Amino acid sequence: LGLRLYDPGFQNTAVAHSKITYIDGEAGVLEYRGYDIAELAEKSTFLEVAYLLIYGDLPTPFQFRQFHDEVTHHTFLHLNMANLMRSFNYDAHPMGMFISGVAALSTFHPEANPALSGNDMYLENSQIRNKQIFRLLGKAPTVASYAYRHRIGRPYNQPRNDLSYTANFLYMMDRLSEDEYTPNPVLVRALDVLFILHADHELNCSTAAMRHIGSSHVDPYSAVAGASAALYGPLHGGANEAVLRMLEDIQSVENVPSFLEQVKTRKRKLMGFGHRVYKNYDPRARIIRKVAYEVFEVCGKEPLIEVAIALEQAALADDFFVSRKLYPNVDFYSGLIYKAMGFPTDFFPVLFAIPRVAGWLAHWKESCEETGGKIWRPRQVYTGEPHRPYVPLNHRG
Ligand code: CMC
Repeated sequence: LGLRLYDPGFQNTAVAHSKITYIDGEAGVLEYRGYDIAELAEKSTFLEVAYLLIYGDLPTPFQFRQFHDEVTHHTFLHLNMANLMRSFNYDAHPMGMFISGVAALSTFHPEANPALSGNDMYLENSQIRNKQIFRLLGKAPTVASYAYRHRIGRPYNQPRNDLSYTANFLYMMDRLSEDEYTPNPVLVRALDVLFILHADHELNCSTAAMRHIGSSHVDPYSAVAGASAALYGPLHGGANEAVLRMLEDIQSVENVPSFLEQVKTRKRKLMGFGHRVYKNYDPRARIIRKVAYEVFEVCGKEPLIEVAIALEQAALADDFFVSRKLYPNVDFYSGLIYKAMGFPTDFFPVLFAIPRVAGWLAHWKESCEETGGKIWRPRQVYTGEPHRPYVPLNHRG
């Protein structure tokens, strides 16, 4: 293998220089552009954080107004996108619809495709880059809401650009009639906090996928679709859905010890626990637990929270989990909040994907601006057959 290192799953390989997100997994620290995640969750809004991640600093009031206007003026979808979303089965997984919808966006914006325009314009033109950033941030919640509305057999709601990013999303999801409908401000704020917490997490599986796909200079819609597919898996963003299914399976606090025995004998996995980088409590999980109770005040308590708390307490007192430094991660409590808010369980990964679009775009922009950026092309250790001659079909067997 010469000087190459074998590192399955990139456990020990740094593949990019980045100024976006800092994690100290041992200490349980998470910062976006130097700002502590807890402070941002308490004081900021999702769109402001998206700006911070993508452009490097918190916006001035003027910059924020401009950014807000640009994003909210790119929220509408082409009528053919509505037709496309309508063509899915009634029981299609919303994440499959989201991935397909975002991929389809690339066909509506061919000028964003360097293969068609014949140059690597993103590397040279920040205006073209920004246009795609506004479109992707603006349209992701609309694609998501179309997936949801299709599933429940209701007409799509058109975006309301006078509302905040998260209020508009809730509006598109829930508006039932032509009457004035105002999303509950507590739920809007809760979703804003959840979106801030999910917006970026350095080179996780989907962000690495975004950078990997983007390194071929494909258009960012295709790259975001690929990153969304990586997020869909139950070891990554699909974990929030898997946690809820696990809690439903456990049913009650009495069943927690027997479930943990199954985990320790490796028949099951404790979903929402463990992390490649955090070897301490995930700071996002701490904040999310607090948000859960604020949402329960409005929507009523989600009974499975008792099972989750009992599970966490028992795991944190058990040597199997302690010795492996397994703690609750961001997905452990988020699903309970989404369930209390009325989102269907299979929609949870979509609620992870929408805010993560901001992080993916921040990394995409950073890699576009990198000097001497190279296409990602890892090497392998070949363990197959040595060279052998071809045997014609009728001479085999
Ligand atoms: N339940 C039971 N055992 C676990 C778990 C878990 N959730 N997570 C890790 N372990 C064990 C694992 O079996 C291994 O034990 P041993 O050394 O005896 O074989 C040890 O802990 C180290 O685990 P690993 O699988 O080598 O760790 P990793 O860094 O490759 O995987 C992970 C990280 C997040 C994929 C894994 O912890 C996991 O599968 N967790 C459950 C799924 C989940 O909650 N994913 C969301 C992650 S956070 C948000 C996001 O990225 O979307």
